[in-house]
Amino acid sequence: MKNKQKGIFITLEGIDGCGKSTLANNLVTALKADNHSVLLTKEPGGSKLGVTLRQLLNEQQEPLDAVSEFLLFAADRAEHFRKIIIPALEQNIIVISDRCADSSLAYQGYARGVDINFITEVNAVAMAGITPTLTIFIDIEPHVAAARFAKRGATLTSFEVRGIPFFTAVRHGFETIFKSRNNVLRLDGNETQEVLLAQAIEALKSIF
Ligand code: TMP
Repeated sequence: MKNKQKGIFITLEGIDGCGKSTLANNLVTALKADNHSVLLTKEPGGSKLGVTLRQLLNEQQEPLDAVSEFLLFAADRAEHFRKIIIPALEQNIIVISDRCADSSLAYQGYARGVDINFITEVNAVAMAGITPTLTIFIDIEPHVAAARFAKRGATLTSFEVRGIPFFTAVRHGFETIFKSRNNVLRLDGNETQEVLLAQAIEALKSIF
C-alpha cells in the first residue's frame, strides 16, 4: 500500500452512463473469485441516508440549489464513511465505492459552480481524512453516454435530463481534478467491459 491508512479503498468515477457500475460489479466478482474480502458500496446509496437521498434527488422536479445539493451529498458521505467504509477498512476488507468525493468536485464544483476549496475541505472532513488508494476513472464522450441512455429507454433521472453541455462540464471537471493525481487509472469507456476489467485487475495487482 502506498499510504499509511489501513485497508485498500478503490473509487470508481465518471459521467453518468460511462459503465462504472458494471465494472464495479465485475471487479467485485473477480476479486471474490480470487478469495479477497470485498465490499461493494456506492454514493449515494451505500448508507441508509444515501438510499433516501438517491430517491429524493431522483424525484426532484426542479434542480436543487447547487450548495444545498453538495451538502446533502456531503452528509451522506459522512454517514457512509463512519458507518460503512471505515469499519470495513479496519477489518482489512477491500472497499470499492461506485462514486465518492470526486463526483461532488466534478458535478457540484466544476459543473455547477460551487467553490472547489469549500468542497475539498468539507469532503476531507466527511471522509475523516481517508483518501482512495486508487481511483478508476472511466472516460467517455457525453454523446456516447447519451446514446446509451436513449437505447436503454428507461425514464431519465433528474441528472440525466441535464443533457450534453452539463455532462461536458462534468467530464472537464474530472479531467481537471485527475490531472494532478498520481493514483488514478484512466480507462477508455468505449472499450468492452472485458477489456476494462482486465485493465483494472492489472492496475490492482501493483497494489496487492
Ligand atoms: P449514479 O447511479 O450514476 O451513481 O448516479 C448518481 C448521480 O448522483 C449521478 O448523476 C452523479 C450524482 N452525484 C453528484 O452529483 N455528486 C456526488 O457527490 C455524488 C456522489 C453523485
